[in-house]
Amino acid sequence: MEEMFRLLYGGALSGTTGAKNVTPAELEDLDKKMVNADFWLSEGREAGREGFGWLELPWMDLSEIKKQGEWLGKFESIIQIGIGGSALGNRMLNKALLHPYYNELPADQRKGPKYYLAENVDPASDYAIWDRVDPSSVALLVISKSGSTAETMANFLFFLEKLKDSIGEEEALKRVLVVTDPEKGNLRALAKEKGCRSLDIPSGVGGRYSVLSPVGLAAACAMGIDVEMLLKGARSAMEKITKPGPLFERPCHLLAALSWLHGRKGRTLDVLMPYSDRLSDFVEWFAQLWAESIGKDGKGFTPVRALGAVDQHSQVQLYTEGPDDKLFTLIDVQNRSKDIDIPLTGMDSLSPLEYMGKGSMNRMISYEASSTAAAILKSGKPVLWIELPRIDEEVMGALIFFYQYSTALTGYLLSIDPFDQPGVEQGKKYTYGLMGRDGYSEHAAEVRDIFRQVDSASAGL
Ligand code: PA5
Repeated sequence: MEEMFRLLYGGALSGTTGAKNVTPAELEDLDKKMVNADFWLSEGREAGREGFGWLELPWMDLSEIKKQGEWLGKFESIIQIGIGGSALGNRMLNKALLHPYYNELPADQRKGPKYYLAENVDPASDYAIWDRVDPSSVALLVISKSGSTAETMANFLFFLEKLKDSIGEEEALKRVLVVTDPEKGNLRALAKEKGCRSLDIPSGVGGRYSVLSPVGLAAACAMGIDVEMLLKGARSAMEKITKPGPLFERPCHLLAALSWLHGRKGRTLDVLMPYSDRLSDFVEWFAQLWAESIGKDGKGFTPVRALGAVDQHSQVQLYTEGPDDKLFTLIDVQNRSKDIDIPLTGMDSLSPLEYMGKGSMNRMISYEASSTAAAILKSGKPVLWIELPRIDEEVMGALIFFYQYSTALTGYLLSIDPFDQPGVEQGKKYTYGLMGRDGYSEHAAEVRDIFRQVDSASAGL
């Protein structure tokens, strides 16, 4: 089987903070914990426990998703409405797998409709989207597992109203595809009441683990992303991940173990720095997965988003000479879709740049990745190095699954539940209360009370 990617590790486990190195007994203990973690995941999957449903997704039947994707694909534009796990996966897939200026391409050079995402609550962004679409050929793809998230509901109500004003209520409702829980929530109720098109988010699949479900795949299908290959990549990752072997030869287990070990030694910031623009939104997706899954009970590691080579000119000074509180993961790509041989002009004034003519831009960015890794290692800090053979659907499917599995393992090592998000729910309840939702007034009162206390210690310019 082709190697989907390689993970390499450089740096002592002790580092420069004076913390003790890991003893063989500790490593043996970690090895045992990892075996238990695999067992916990496979048992949860078999028992169909809440939160473990993503482990089934690579084997999912895609026929209904493809059918709805094909329907979406006939419109000139689609507006996806969602936030958090109901948006970030699409951002990641589009950035990695579509043309960087996809919406600006002529229709015959796109494999699907123009795509707009209404994510935040910002009227200026909503109006900007609405101004760009033609109401006679636009569909609304509204995604929310809970079917109640305030930001998503507010944006949905805005676009539905606009569409109703343009083409009438009956027609507008025929343009809505709802992706939500099979039974619960406002969106499911709407789909039942008005007969809107809908896709189920399989029960047991949480928001940030849902990109390989209808959440990520409906729009992906519409825009010509090969969803079969995404799942194929995830399946082959799963096969390799679950193959028993020594801890330090299993990439997921290694990532989880190192995150945990370094975290104990005070390296609680996990920097993810891919050297490719196409992975810039992968980092955003990772940040949510890592933060929401393992940040609880006073534990967790903070994801730090970075992008090579851009952040060499912004963050690497801190990374090399700042505090030793980070574990770095750099991602390099071996075969990139396009390359540029750096041109030479023959002009005397530019002759000092002739050394550039010896290489291409792809070589340059890979050299930059190696240089950053070397500089960080030289400063005594740990680096994980991921080498992707290329960026396509199969590799992205594997990479997504790799990070989901590693996150779950890390949560297990920290003895927290990586599949719940009580902190997010708390924020949602406060918003419902402040917006006047029935049954949430106590939450609104709590926010006001907290703010009264903040007010008593404030200063201004
Ligand atoms: O991972 C999660 O559960 C959350 O981040 C959700 O994805 C986010 O809050 C959006 O929730 P919903 O899909 O219910 O609208």
